Amino acid sequence: ATLDMELEQIMKGSYPHFMLKEIYEQPDSLTQTMRGRVISHDSSPDDVSRNHRGDVHLGGLSQRIGDFRRSSRIIFVACGTSFHSCLAGRQVMEELTELPVSIELASDFLDRETPLFRSDVCVFVSQSGETADTLEALRYAKKCQALTVGVVNVVGSSIARLTDCGVHLNAGAEIGVASTKAYTSQILVLIIIALQLSADSRAKQGRRREIHDALLTLPNLVTKTLKDLDGRMKGIAERLKENTSILLFGRGFHYATCMEGALKIKELSYIHTEGIHAGELKHGPLALIDENMPVILFAGKDACSGKVQNALHQVTARGGIANMLIVGTEGDSEIEKFSDKVELVQVPKTVDCLQCVLAIIPMQLLSYHLAVARGLNVDQPRSLAKSVTVQ
Ligand code: G6P
Repeated sequence: ATLDMELEQIMKGSYPHFMLKEIYEQPDSLTQTMRGRVISHDSSPDDVSRNHRGDVHLGGLSQRIGDFRRSSRIIFVACGTSFHSCLAGRQVMEELTELPVSIELASDFLDRETPLFRSDVCVFVSQSGETADTLEALRYAKKCQALTVGVVNVVGSSIARLTDCGVHLNAGAEIGVASTKAYTSQILVLIIIALQLSADSRAKQGRRREIHDALLTLPNLVTKTLKDLDGRMKGIAERLKENTSILLFGRGFHYATCMEGALKIKELSYIHTEGIHAGELKHGPLALIDENMPVILFAGKDACSGKVQNALHQVTARGGIANMLIVGTEGDSEIEKFSDKVELVQVPKTVDCLQCVLAIIPMQLLSYHLAVARGLNVDQPRSLAKSVTVQ
């Protein structure tokens, strides 16, 4: 046992917890996820890269890429945080492939015995590659003869072995029970798959290039976000730590961010949280808003900006501004107008579909600091397991 503890300390390096180490590893884990796959314009000596200069290349899909492109719909299947990465990747997948894309909780997918056909592609997203529901859903999809694709971190895991083809995250071992670096790498892989599937589409080249180039600058923006916001989020955690409930609102590319932010906070701090689509406020959640309710609102700089401002006004009109944190984008003057009335943290600007990778970082930091401030077990929250291998 002492040996185990010493080993653990060595693996954590200078970090007090695995979770914090893994949060800070993200500039590097994202770089690893892109290595050899997102090829820069001026790249690099080896042949594979030369052929794909300024484009993407996913070796693990190349055998089946034709079948994937010819499919009639794409279905993402996952649990927990991995499900939220599907939520984050869905819109770009739809936009670039012009295929219908649905996302399924593995458990619900199985409960419904969802109709599935040979022309379908099922993408199983799992950090561990061992989650029982996801694995069972994979077995079901194979029985239905759908094409099965794995997006998995752990090499040699069951889902990695049983899928027809796939993409490893290459994010490195994730030890903290609450997933952090796997989430951001999953989003990247799903976006790179969307880029790969649309490589031959003339109409998409401008958009593809915009996303491609933004991917290459993303790790530096993650570094900046960590540097700018860690201290701020620690202070905000001190203020929020006695609360019993926090609501998180987002939509568009930040629907996933509010869902994953809510999951991170409840897993780590045991505070009740809800991630709510900002288009749903009038359908119930507004009844919860008063000057005491803490609200976190995600405001991207994208096609949804106007609608998010609308949500902001709805919450403000019920007194909800008294206790509000906005996670916004640098240079967004519409949101900066509120900076004297709310707590505003800003992440760097990037292409719309990658903003979710930056905006989740303050939530990872907030949930971490909440757990520390409340004296809780950061790396092993009560009642949770890293890998849920029973249904
Ligand atoms: C557990 C973990 C979560 C994870 C989920 C799915 O609940 O605590 O962090 O998101 O399983 O795991 P997977 O390995 O399939 O991504």
